[in-house]
Amino acid sequence: MHHQARSSCCFARLLLATCAALWFTLSSSPAIAAPPADPTYWEDIRPILRKNCTVCHSSKNLKELDVSGGLALDSYAAVRQGTKHPVIESGKSGASLLVERITTEDGDKRMPLGATPLNTEAIALIRRE
Ligand code: HEC
Repeated sequence: MHHQARSSCCFARLLLATCAALWFTLSSSPAIAAPPADPTYWEDIRPILRKNCTVCHSSKNLKELDVSGGLALDSYAAVRQGTKHPVIESGKSGASLLVERITTEDGDKRMPLGATPLNTEAIALIRRE
């Protein structure tokens, strides 16, 4: 009984050491140390939209035009879907309606509606996406 307990403890230590060694190898590999890639929808854009836009622009609100304008921004598919027309254009998002609406000087049109405009960092990320 005693003996068994001790050997399973050693095994656990060995496992731990192996894991640590493996982690070291992986974390120092060049693939992981590579410079950050282009902004991605999931990691960079989605958090901005969730924080600033989806209170109004969600699938749940889609039918309430006074709230959402018929636009949902809570999934990539929904963003691509747009309204009657697209709100983003891949490859040239600088020209997209979405960017137009977050950068316009017209306070009645600027998104997020009735709130502080997005900061320049967020706008730059969305432009690049
Ligand atoms: C307080 C609610 C609210 C918030 C928050 C909000 N919007 Fe809107 N948005 C609306 C409403 C209502 C409309 C429709 C009326 C209009 O076009 O001004 C609209 C329209 C739009 C349109 C035009 C859709 C079309 O096809 O004409 C875009 C693009 C847009 N919003 C993007 C955004 C983005 C991006 C954010 C976040 C940065 C955002 N909105 C935040 C309420 C909101």
